[in-house]
Amino acid sequence: MSGVYVTADYELCRLVLRDRRFSVVPPFHPALPKPVRWLVTKTDLGLPNLGEPPSMLVTDPPDHTRYRRLVGQAFSPKAIATLEKRIAEVADDLVERLESNPRPDLIGDFSAQLPVTIIAEILGLPADMHSTLLKWGDSGAPLLERGLSWTTYRHAIEDLAEVKQYFDQHLDGLTAEPRDDVLSMLVRNDELTRREQVANAALLLDAGFLTTVNMLGNGIVLLTNHPDQLELLAAQPGLWPNAVEEILRYDGPVRMTGRVANCDVDIADQRIESGNLVLLSLAGANSDPAVFPDPRKFDVTRENAAEHLAFSSGIHGCLGARLARLEGTIALRALFDRYPNLSLDGPPVPHPLRNLHAYRCMPVELSVD
Ligand code: HEM
Repeated sequence: MSGVYVTADYELCRLVLRDRRFSVVPPFHPALPKPVRWLVTKTDLGLPNLGEPPSMLVTDPPDHTRYRRLVGQAFSPKAIATLEKRIAEVADDLVERLESNPRPDLIGDFSAQLPVTIIAEILGLPADMHSTLLKWGDSGAPLLERGLSWTTYRHAIEDLAEVKQYFDQHLDGLTAEPRDDVLSMLVRNDELTRREQVANAALLLDAGFLTTVNMLGNGIVLLTNHPDQLELLAAQPGLWPNAVEEILRYDGPVRMTGRVANCDVDIADQRIESGNLVLLSLAGANSDPAVFPDPRKFDVTRENAAEHLAFSSGIHGCLGARLARLEGTIALRALFDRYPNLSLDGPPVPHPLRNLHAYRCMPVELSVD
């Protein structure tokens, strides 16, 4: 019988995430409960499920290193800096368009649109695919959770068959005629099998917008509920990047991740036996008072806000963190600069997912004056 440990201690979470004696947890790992593993036996392992290998999220080195190296350059500080102007253009356009909408939903009409537009451009996917990509993201998001109902799982898997078919064809095209985009990097020199290419293309797509949508949504709720912090930002716009860090710390979209000990590990006065599972509460770590004094205070001037673990840490630390930070800073600033008196029109509708803290729908009143 495998043991399961849970921690919300910041230092411990960070240690485990950075310790190579721990591995990622694919959904068929024996440390996971039987019903979770059972679901996987019912599916085609050839489908590009972001929670199953060969998605880099759940693959250990050396394969993980190969996948990440191929696309890493596209998310380097230099590459992301070149996107600043385009992100601002898209954000401004979306902000303008909200005004003609009598009752905008800041998830569907704003928060979801910016990241999907940008990641589609990075990946070289056409603009007329956006609504299909959002649909795939919506059904694929639950795959980041463990312990889904069969109905939710089956629905997600059905859409994955479409994702696979699309990327199979698209990557065939890029193999024949490579372009200057990230997916062309994945097919370069046939370094990866087609299954590895498709799995990681689907991961880049979903990871590229699923969580960013929620960072924006959670940020809008936090800022509208803290008008004093908005006033500070209006007076000192240079604080926006730190405000995004504080949003990620205070209410990051990804609540938890996990690792499995791949040998006996002595840590925090505890022996974790080989094969045992450690659940890491990223949300808990981000509220650890030993690191973040008065942790439930939302403070955009918090000096060490950026030390949060919302993007995880170690070799699986978020590949798109720089991009997400830039999108958050530009989009939230554009929105509140244009609509400083924006208010929620009733409580936002929460997403039923457990590991992704998110809203499904967020009606607002803009009041332009
Ligand atoms: C606010 C937005 C985002 C949040 C909160 C977030 C969070 C995370 C977290 C927590 C992990 C690691 C999970 C673990 O250690 O088990 C991760 C990995 C990853 N993220 Fe993000 N992410 C965001 C945006 C993005 C964007 C925009 C991209 C762009 C493609 C992206 C791509 C990835 C990839 C490819 C991985 C896997 C990295 C690896 O396994 O080496 N993410 N993200």
